[in-house]
Amino acid sequence: MTDYETILIEIRGRVGWITLNRPEALNALNSQVMADVVDAATRFDADDGIGAIVVTGSERAFAAGADIKEMESKSGLDMLMGDHFGGWARFAAVRTPVIAAVSGYALGGGCELAMMCDIILAADTAKFGQPEINLGVIPGMGGTQRLVRAVGYYKAAELVLTGRLMDASEAERAGLVSRVVPASELLEEAGRVADTIAAKSLPSLYAAKAAMDAALETTQAEGLRFERQAFAALFDTEDQKEGMAAFREKRAPAFGNH
Ligand code: CAA
Repeated sequence: MTDYETILIEIRGRVGWITLNRPEALNALNSQVMADVVDAATRFDADDGIGAIVVTGSERAFAAGADIKEMESKSGLDMLMGDHFGGWARFAAVRTPVIAAVSGYALGGGCELAMMCDIILAADTAKFGQPEINLGVIPGMGGTQRLVRAVGYYKAAELVLTGRLMDASEAERAGLVSRVVPASELLEEAGRVADTIAAKSLPSLYAAKAAMDAALETTQAEGLRFERQAFAALFDTEDQKEGMAAFREKRAPAFGNH
């Protein structure tokens, strides 16, 4: 597979792993990181042999934010014309389930990258926050939108307006984190969750993600209509016949992803 400048990638079984690898900058997300992550995730997404993606960083930092040194001297016009951060929309749009395995700092763009994923597993050392207000700006990769939806307005407002960081257990209580695990078990646990997901039928995974997206983006009535259509469509897959036959025959299903 392609060699990347700022990330390491690996395929283990049916799981694609993306490890952010700019230790000198605590994995700060510059344009090259965005290009690399988006390219790797898009390739994994296009591969039927991959049923889940894990994104992780180092023990010290998942990512300490967008790269402040890269942005510092830009004008507003530079940011608009360069569509700064625009590529992340392609990452957020992958259909394959994505797990963020977060250890250490997930700040600013790092917290926002985690929130673009479907599941956030946090090491007990993780720290989350949107400290952009300390830099005279605001979150720019989705933080004002996804954090409000994840933890509610009042919790999000306190974090965004003060720049305060929260630890893993507070983040779990707030609903930002799916589950907290001891730091030494983070990657193993992320692998277990990813393997479990990747063993399901891809069409049903795609449908489940799309239907849950609808819960965030549309009215409940429209979301319910979408869910009924997606549910019905899955009855045209061989995997639905296999899954239900396996239940009746009291055996594990063998999904073929069609
Ligand atoms: N951008 C660029 N470089 C960064 C960085 C960032 N976001 N975060 C850390 N680094 C660099 C530091 O400059 C330092 O490099 P040098 O050794 O060359 O000076 C190196 O990483 C190590 O960092 P520290 O020495 O600061 O490490 P520390 O342990 O003392 O502190 C920290 C860790 C609290 C995370 C601190 O680095 C920090 O506050 N980082 C910035 C966090 C932040 O403000 N993030 C938001 C960025 S803006 C944003 O993300 C906008 C958006 O919404 C998309």
